[in-house]
Amino acid sequence: MQSKIESLRNEIQNLHAQNADEVEKLRIRYLSKKGLVNSLFTEFKALPGEEKRKFGQPLNSLKNEAKAKIAALQNEAGQAQKSFSEGDLSRPVRFEGLGAEHPVNLVKNEIIGIFNRIGFNTSEGPEVEDDWHNFTALNFPEEHPARDMQDTFFVAKDPDWALRTHTSSVQVRVMENEKPPIRTISPGRVFRNEAISARSHCFFHQIEGLYIDKKVSFADLKQTLLFFAQEFFGPKTKIRLRPSYFPFTEPSAEMDVYWGLENERDYRMTKGTGWLEVLGCGMVDPAVLKNNNIDPEEYSGFAFGIGVERIALHRFQIPDIRMLFENDARFLKQFTAAL
Ligand code: DAH
Repeated sequence: MQSKIESLRNEIQNLHAQNADEVEKLRIRYLSKKGLVNSLFTEFKALPGEEKRKFGQPLNSLKNEAKAKIAALQNEAGQAQKSFSEGDLSRPVRFEGLGAEHPVNLVKNEIIGIFNRIGFNTSEGPEVEDDWHNFTALNFPEEHPARDMQDTFFVAKDPDWALRTHTSSVQVRVMENEKPPIRTISPGRVFRNEAISARSHCFFHQIEGLYIDKKVSFADLKQTLLFFAQEFFGPKTKIRLRPSYFPFTEPSAEMDVYWGLENERDYRMTKGTGWLEVLGCGMVDPAVLKNNNIDPEEYSGFAFGIGVERIALHRFQIPDIRMLFENDARFLKQFTAAL
């Protein structure tokens, strides 16, 4: 009996467990009804009286030691689990890869950078806009069909509030807050109630430009846009200005950039002309200056509006504008290298 008690005591003192499950198995093995400690008690009961007196006490203390050991192991396993769930804050980070900048942002930021370098600051306005800033101050007469050029999303059936249809509304906000000389570009999201297709979406981004000072001429406009085109598309880039119409500029033009006509893709991109339409522009209409308390006798200015998505689609050869807004990670991941 003596040696059985001793060897079981040794065994129990050296027990180890990796987790709570293992501790539970040990508890069952040693401390359950049919466990090893109890089986010694069973043997003990069969001993003659004199031996009982000898081994009663050591057997009880073995049982207590076993209980204490199992409790200590349970405690250890519990601690380990806790520190795992709280996380080891010092362990090294698993590198999951960098995110990518969105292609629309890449193009937008590059354009902003070009104009910032020649003294244009950056301004912003609200996406929900009133009729005055989006239309009336920009010389869209009431009930005039020019308003139909831009299918408008109205807010809660209130014809005075709408999602802005262009960033030209920010021109008005800048003019009402600042005195000339004004040199600003206004990037932002705009909304049009248009059918969504591969080529058009109900929201997209524009960058508005506005320059007002004494004696600003159409030549200044053309030179500024040529500078932009050559910075963005390359130093040999050619541009052309086609007469156009916007209520807020007179004269108005659209600017094309020569893209090339060398392969089938160029034909498709440029509808067989070799030229890519990039922006609308013109000399700020004197009526717009007057609406904003700027004297057209003293000041003149030019403005332009660049469509960001159109440029992004061409730059990255993206065949469908909807891909820009689906947030498919497989698509967006491809722009990591552009950072
Ligand atoms: N707002 C026009 C549009 O959305 C673009 C535009 C044309 C802006 C001429 C201008 C401009 O500032 O002068 O189609």
